[in-house]
Amino acid sequence: MYQVAVLLSGSGSNLQALLDAEAAGALGAEVVLVVSDRADASGLQRALARQVAAAYVPLPATPRGADRAAVRAAWERRLADVVAAFAPDLVLLAGFMRILSPAFLDRFPNRVINQHPALLPDDGGDTYVTSTGLVIPALRGAHVVAEALERGLPITGCSIHRVTPRVDDGPVLARAEVPVLPGDTPETLHERIKVEEHRLIVEVVRSLAQEHACAEREVQRR
Ligand code: GRF
Repeated sequence: MYQVAVLLSGSGSNLQALLDAEAAGALGAEVVLVVSDRADASGLQRALARQVAAAYVPLPATPRGADRAAVRAAWERRLADVVAAFAPDLVLLAGFMRILSPAFLDRFPNRVINQHPALLPDDGGDTYVTSTGLVIPALRGAHVVAEALERGLPITGCSIHRVTPRVDDGPVLARAEVPVLPGDTPETLHERIKVEEHRLIVEVVRSLAQEHACAEREVQRR
């Protein structure tokens, strides 16, 4: 069975969508581990409620004068050790609010994907062309839902992409457009984006699991 580790910092509604699909026999994959950098992330409780291993790996406070980069790299190595102990086929960043460097990413080459609540282009560029031909900015960073509203965009959405050391970049696996409605607040807009994210993440994990199974069969046939 294709095995997935999920890293998160918050509520974990996307994790829940995966767990529900798995329980319904509709995922073709198994969530084997949930890791958080926050002890109060309710995603950890969602994992425990389904008997899925859950780990809290805090980023230590950096003492004055300490080498921040060294502390950070040691934390990423520790995080990678925890994840690697479960040997997952896929590492999903589902609302994980830390940027991961090659210290982590190189341990899981081509296996880390991220959910981003805005539309990202295929070419890593600064604009995205919507299905109706509208050119909008590609929003990156931690506040893109509010930014879509501030910039008065008529449309935004969500993307799932492979993770590279460049933030909110890397090949896009799937995306969905979501219209911005009059009177939207960051909260109402994010809720509607999440509805699409929940559908999309199940589709992406299912299709990666199928690809993996096909590749395994191919290897066995040789
Ligand atoms: C999602 O909108 C995801 O795109 C972003 O963080 C949010 C996580 O939501 N990176 P949840 O914790 O799964 O509810």
